[in-house]
Amino acid sequence: MAIRHFRSLLDLSSGELQQIISRAGELKRERQAGIPHALFPNRVLGMVFEKSSTRTRVSFEAGMAQFGGSALFLSARDTQLGRGEPISDSARVMSSMVDVLMVRTFKHDTLETFAEYSSVPVINALTDAFHPCQLLADIQTFVEHRGSLSGKTVAWIGDGNNMCQSYINASRLCDFELVIACPQGFEPDSALVDANSDRVRIVRDPADAARNAHLLVTDVFASMGQEDEQEARLKSFAGYQINTELLSHAASDALVMHCLPAHRGEEISAEIMDSPDSVIWDEAENRLHAQKALLEFLLNAQR
Ligand code: CP
Ligand code: NVA
Repeated sequence: MAIRHFRSLLDLSSGELQQIISRAGELKRERQAGIPHALFPNRVLGMVFEKSSTRTRVSFEAGMAQFGGSALFLSARDTQLGRGEPISDSARVMSSMVDVLMVRTFKHDTLETFAEYSSVPVINALTDAFHPCQLLADIQTFVEHRGSLSGKTVAWIGDGNNMCQSYINASRLCDFELVIACPQGFEPDSALVDANSDRVRIVRDPADAARNAHLLVTDVFASMGQEDEQEARLKSFAGYQINTELLSHAASDALVMHCLPAHRGEEISAEIMDSPDSVIWDEAENRLHAQKALLEFLLNAQR
């Protein structure tokens, strides 16, 4: 039986994605009601981190504990990965000892190599190209507050980065229109945009993207690994901020999301982050529930 990996959202069919989102809602309600769900006793998740994390680490680790299993934090610095042991060898060895692997790394190819040599499912916990786990939480959050994303318009404001590219994949699976407002030179991958040109469009003016949108999303101007570009990017992205003025162009019931961590006063105003239109805190919490549903899906697919 082929191993199911989660390298990007496109490893799921539209129906499977819906099933995971719906299950995430159930798991959330169970947890809120204090109903235990120790569905995976003794199962172990290996968590490989080559970049920093708060939400991803806590949600995966807590999720496995709530399932009755456990999670191992494996930083590149402290494992032989940081000393140059080949990814292929590391993946073979680690996957012989754990039930599922989660990898946060720089190059998307590194993640693909992990998946190629792993004998258990590999989850993309962020690469320079995609952050699909965050999209599971974002989709769950929209569904919770407003119902299906199908037929809706989403405005991406800012860098055409890993989050933006994951929104492009989501637009295909969830059937929404995506309008990306980014400065020249900061577009998402052109092949990805072209492959989705029936529903994805790039504009320069954030107000054009926000107009009548049902969801406004942004992310930091400089992602992990781009710290040296922070100052230059601040200049390039001037005006690309989700704030009250920008939101005034959107649909009256528009929501605001941000994957966090946020830089208040740069890509998003402090006022918007805590406004009633922002669902950022639900979005962060839903990382837990959505990834538990994903883990359950992948582990059950192995049976
Ligand atoms: N949104 C997100 O992935 O957060 P962390 O980098 O804290 O895991
Ligand atoms: N685009 C950001 C997302 C962080 C969760 C980064 O890659 O740093």
